[in-house]
Amino acid sequence: MALITTKEMFKKAYEGGYAIGAFNISDLEQLQGVLEGAKAKNSYVMIQASKSAIQYAGPHTLVEMVKAASDEIGVDVALHLDHGPNFETVKSCIDAGFTSVMIDGSHFDFEENVRVTKEVVDYAHERGVVVEAELGVLAGVEDEVSSDVHKYTDPDEAVEFVERTGVDSLAIAIGTSHGAFKFKGEAELKFDILEEIQNRLPGFPIVLHGASAVDQESVATCNEFGGNIAGAKGVPVDMLRKASSMAVCKINMDTDLRLAMTAAIRKYLAENPSQFDPRKYLGAGKDAIQAVVESKIDNVLGSENSIN
Ligand code: G3H
Ligand code: 13P
Ligand code: ZN
Repeated sequence: MALITTKEMFKKAYEGGYAIGAFNISDLEQLQGVLEGAKAKNSYVMIQASKSAIQYAGPHTLVEMVKAASDEIGVDVALHLDHGPNFETVKSCIDAGFTSVMIDGSHFDFEENVRVTKEVVDYAHERGVVVEAELGVLAGVEDEVSSDVHKYTDPDEAVEFVERTGVDSLAIAIGTSHGAFKFKGEAELKFDILEEIQNRLPGFPIVLHGASAVDQESVATCNEFGGNIAGAKGVPVDMLRKASSMAVCKINMDTDLRLAMTAAIRKYLAENPSQFDPRKYLGAGKDAIQAVVESKIDNVLGSENSIN
């Protein structure tokens, strides 16, 4: 088994009208849960880690852990840097063995975003690594950066950006946002923007960030067993499935895994008050993550049996 890039998986996803799940992890149980889910569904997945997740786990520990788990569980996987903030961070991940990186220049002006993305693309492509960039700004909080309002992606800019940078995939802003509180009123995604970008960049893989559905069952379980998560709301599953049948080839989910793991651990500890073996409660968290990943593959991504 090996760490692979996204080239083949995105091509198959685009042609097959489905998307690849990109799941954030920062520890062993999350990693195992995602890979066990992928194995059970014979599906491609991406493991992704943010800068803070890499700092938490340690860059070399993370890479070696993903390689070893991919081998032991028996599933090839892409290891991706999520929201790389600058060239130095991206370079350190490429040098450490990541097979895919994101340079997130979405908070810069257009020209600076083009410049830093091109710099990353040149470095990455020489080393066989693929690059995702972002154009437009998602509302909400991502790592240390936050925005109150969406700045939807401009299709004209998207075409120019892709041509000038040579990037392999592009994250766009069409109304999703990071975290558990995505919509104050009705959920709405700008499918007209996605459609126009798809028409103007045929065959080019689009990425959707902030795409957790914020599963209400997990929220309810968290709250039932001592949590306090009020007003959480995610992207409706039918909208995500529609996006994955279009040019969206990668769908990012972190919040749903965090909620499922926390709910399972809270429940386990509440129901087993004398238990103090971390393998028991973290194992419950791992199983919950596997269940979420399998359900996403079935209901959101449509990627079952994407591995030949
Ligand atoms: O897009 C943000 C991801 O959910 C990562 O979050 O920086 O807390 O690891 P994090
Ligand atoms: P969620 O917060 O909706 O899970 O999005 C995660 C994400 O986009 C990571 O890059
Ligand atoms: Zn994101």
